Amino acid sequence: MAKTKKKTRGATAQEMGDSQRSISVSEFFTKNRHLLGFDSPRKAMLTCVKEAVDNALDASEEAHILPEVHIILEVVADAKGHKPSAAQAKRFRVTVIDYGPGIVRQQIPKIFAKLLYGSKFHRLRMSRGQQGIGISAAGMYGQLTTGKPVKIISRTSAKNQAHYFEVQIDTKKNEPRILEKKQIEWENHRGTQVTIELEGRYVKGRSSIDEYVEQTAIANPHVKITYDPPDGERRVFERTHNELPEQPREIKPHPYGIEFGMLLKMMHDTKSHWLSGFLKSDFSRISGPLADHICKEAGLSPKKRPRDIHGEPAEKLYRVLQATKIMAPSTNCLSPIGEKAILYGLYQQIKGDFYTAVTRPPAVYRGNPFVIEAGLAFGRGSGDDQKKKRKKTIDGPLAEGEGKDTQRELARIIRYANRVPLLFQMSGCATTKAVLDTAWRNYGVSQSRGALPQGPMVIFVHMASVWVPFTSESKEAIADYDEIKKQIKLALQECGRRLGIFLKRRDRAKSEFRRRNVFELYIKEVVDSCNRLKGGKLPVKKLTKQLTEIAEKVTGGTKTDEILGKTGAGPEGLPSSIIVTEEGVEGDIPLMAGDTIELPLGDAPPQAPGAEEPESVSPEIEKAKPKPKKKAKSKAVKKKKKPAPKAKKKAVKEKAAKKKAKKKPAPKKKKKSLPAKRKKK
Ligand SMILES: Nc1ncnc2c1ncn2[C@@H]1O[C@H](COP(=O)(O)OP(=O)(O)OP(=O)(O)O)[C@@H](O)[C@H]1O
Ligand SMILES: [Mg+2]
Repeated sequence: MAKTKKKTRGATAQEMGDSQRSISVSEFFTKNRHLLGFDSPRKAMLTCVKEAVDNALDASEEAHILPEVHIILEVVADAKGHKPSAAQAKRFRVTVIDYGPGIVRQQIPKIFAKLLYGSKFHRLRMSRGQQGIGISAAGMYGQLTTGKPVKIISRTSAKNQAHYFEVQIDTKKNEPRILEKKQIEWENHRGTQVTIELEGRYVKGRSSIDEYVEQTAIANPHVKITYDPPDGERRVFERTHNELPEQPREIKPHPYGIEFGMLLKMMHDTKSHWLSGFLKSDFSRISGPLADHICKEAGLSPKKRPRDIHGEPAEKLYRVLQATKIMAPSTNCLSPIGEKAILYGLYQQIKGDFYTAVTRPPAVYRGNPFVIEAGLAFGRGSGDDQKKKRKKTIDGPLAEGEGKDTQRELARIIRYANRVPLLFQMSGCATTKAVLDTAWRNYGVSQSRGALPQGPMVIFVHMASVWVPFTSESKEAIADYDEIKKQIKLALQECGRRLGIFLKRRDRAKSEFRRRNVFELYIKEVVDSCNRLKGGKLPVKKLTKQLTEIAEKVTGGTKTDEILGKTGAGPEGLPSSIIVTEEGVEGDIPLMAGDTIELPLGDAPPQAPGAEEPESVSPEIEKAKPKPKKKAKSKAVKKKKKPAPKAKKKAVKEKAAKKKAKKKPAPKKKKKSLPAKRKKK
């Protein structure tokens, strides 16, 4: 007898209904931790540092305190007490200390152990964080991989005691579980310290924590960062600008670009009783008379209750709002880095021959104001160590988007959103797409079709906005909105145009200079021969001078010297640019208010009027402070000390004499002290 197969029955609606229940946000993100940037141990550790540092900088700036952060990465010993090397270790302890405003005791558990809890989500104001998920997600990752709680110390002022907490997240309820809380003695009189133990990997090279710290220093010259990597020496990124950036203001949404559903929600939630009052108080750039005009156009009474407007009248109101001419949103909610600071940051951190920076005027996407800034560093700089450094980086582990082919060096893009470096998902970012879409060949840089431009070039792009449209919650790439891409392209085109001018001028000047050197080689021969013919009666000096002048004139005159950076003049037609040559620096090195850079030729450091001393609240860091990093600037000036060839010396002497005659006031720029120094020789 054939066996009858037992048929399985499908689930009934009742059974399915029994298994349906809500999912807590923490359960969801535990399963989908890759959405928050915690996919691999290497990336997870970087995300953890990034979230803590972003919060520290945001909080300090909001409290008008010059930010200072201390990042400590330590290898955790295994059960037997054995500590592997940093490269081999799989478990780390990440500690980030700030000297900002601190956090009130009651808020600590929720901030560090409840997802979607924060102060920045509901407001329209530029800040690094926006979602209210960052630091609690980092803590949750630590808890998931090591089972250890997040440890927090926070103190709001010297008068108050410091509080110590150990918290974990109850993922089922998305609520904090407090394991320990007490008052403790803490050497810092204000600030927050967060420690997370996690499974991680420490690597160097591209997309590493080291790179994140370096790039943060470029875009945040007002921040002091002390970084203790797990394997090496402490690195201190000194503050190079002693003033806080202009503080962004909070704004209301602008009617342009706002979605219909959003308008309905706003009308439901508003505290205003009248429609005209709602339009005036809940949107930016709508005045009383304009609100009345909009109501009239939409055929609605200004005194109607906003909650009661639904269906067709609501849709009509939405259409009228979009069609009415309304002033562009105010941009005091943004705090761009500024051309000077970008130029300064690039010049300090990246060696090159040419630097430029552009800040675009504000624009709007989906009703959100934003500003795009771009910068460019081109060339290898003059130091050998730079080449070594580059090689080392190339030998290191490769990140996404990096090629193994070192022959055909591609430009490197450094991307920022609200001053935070973006290190992953490069190909999916609007910034990369805009770089690829820009025709770099027009500016004398080679570029294969659909590829990045080639050459020793670093491209800097920053988007500052009240809401950066990230492609995912991990905040790694900017979404491809047409308005945003257009602005990035315009900024890049301006940088490219300036680079093109620089490259053309440099090539032309180089060939003229070579020609002049050839002429000058023969001048002595010609003069000696003429003198012999004249029986030694020729005024040798006069003739040499005349011939040298002719050689100079036919090889571009003083223009050639200027282009090659052999004179004190700034680069012509290249605003916000610096040119570095073997002979010195041309262009204004921005000395910003409160700068503390050292001038290598013995000049007194420039002190801007009214510059404040930074608040020092970390005695322990101050004590251990190593010497600041050698600056690119001193390298360039060191080169100047080499004995110059005869012809060059002469040109410089003449220039110095001319300058003396003109009796210019004492120059600020260090390059201007070059002729004086040479004259002494
Ligand atoms: N070091 C700190 N000092 C003071 N306040 C802090 C600090 N760290 C976090 N906070 C507060 O905790 C809140 C939550 O931080 P969290 O990183 O989780 O979210 P967020 O910064 O608002 O947004 P995002 O998820 O984009 O980072 C912040 O909004 C801030 O108000
Ligand atoms: Mg945050």
